[in-house]
Amino acid sequence: AVGAIPAGVLAGKRLVITAGPTREPIDPVRYISNHSSGKMGYAIAEAAAQAGASVTLVSGPVSIPVPEGVQVVPVETAEEMLAASQKAVDEGCDVFVATAAVADYRPESQAANKIKKSSESMNLSLVRNPDTLASVAARPDAPFTVGFAAETSDVEHYATDKMRRKKLDMIVANDVSSPGLGFNSDRNAVTVFWPQGQTSIGPDTKLAIAERLVALIAQHSDKVTH
Ligand code: CTP
Ligand code: CA
Repeated sequence: AVGAIPAGVLAGKRLVITAGPTREPIDPVRYISNHSSGKMGYAIAEAAAQAGASVTLVSGPVSIPVPEGVQVVPVETAEEMLAASQKAVDEGCDVFVATAAVADYRPESQAANKIKKSSESMNLSLVRNPDTLASVAARPDAPFTVGFAAETSDVEHYATDKMRRKKLDMIVANDVSSPGLGFNSDRNAVTVFWPQGQTSIGPDTKLAIAERLVALIAQHSDKVTH
């Protein structure tokens, strides 16, 4: 249940949220990925839908249920996440929230057949993936864009730097060096930065943090700052 946000604060607003990990294929049976559970993005989707928004989740492979009333576009790779997100924004988007843990690199090519082992070592050649959040923020018709930054040191410095470089309206920083918080956990603690201010939320459940974030987004999202 959403207690922290007045019902209807996002009525009529369209949100697109990326969530979960991406999977970058090596061969037909193997991939590079990460431990993202998707919980933070799904919690924001749930809180936003309860606040009256129409919500599209562009989601990598996760094993958690889809919140009621939320539309999901399933994707696997970073390139699919970019294409699906651009399409969802084309269809109309007031607020874009990127919570996905996108693989920064993918194998240069996918082997057509399962790779057999041979020598004692092997090298995998990787190339940079496209940045979905930066691409959406760079659109001339950019929605209010919110990024996440998982950092282990100098959290404020790296997070505000990411906000400026990617031209974001808001960034949610979490210090993933604290045990039991953030990645793959039910709980989180974050500091939210926007060009004119900042606030800390938690430690609390991801749903409680999502409610506070949705309330903050509702307060600020009428002013796209770029
Ligand atoms: N992001 C994205 N597409 C990518 C990489 C990141 O949309 N290819 C988004 C994430 O969903 C997150 C934000 O950008 O909202 C920051 O991700 P992060 O990994 O912290 O930043 P990077 O720019 O990849 O920098 P680095 O990993 O080097 O710290
Ligand atoms: Ca990254």
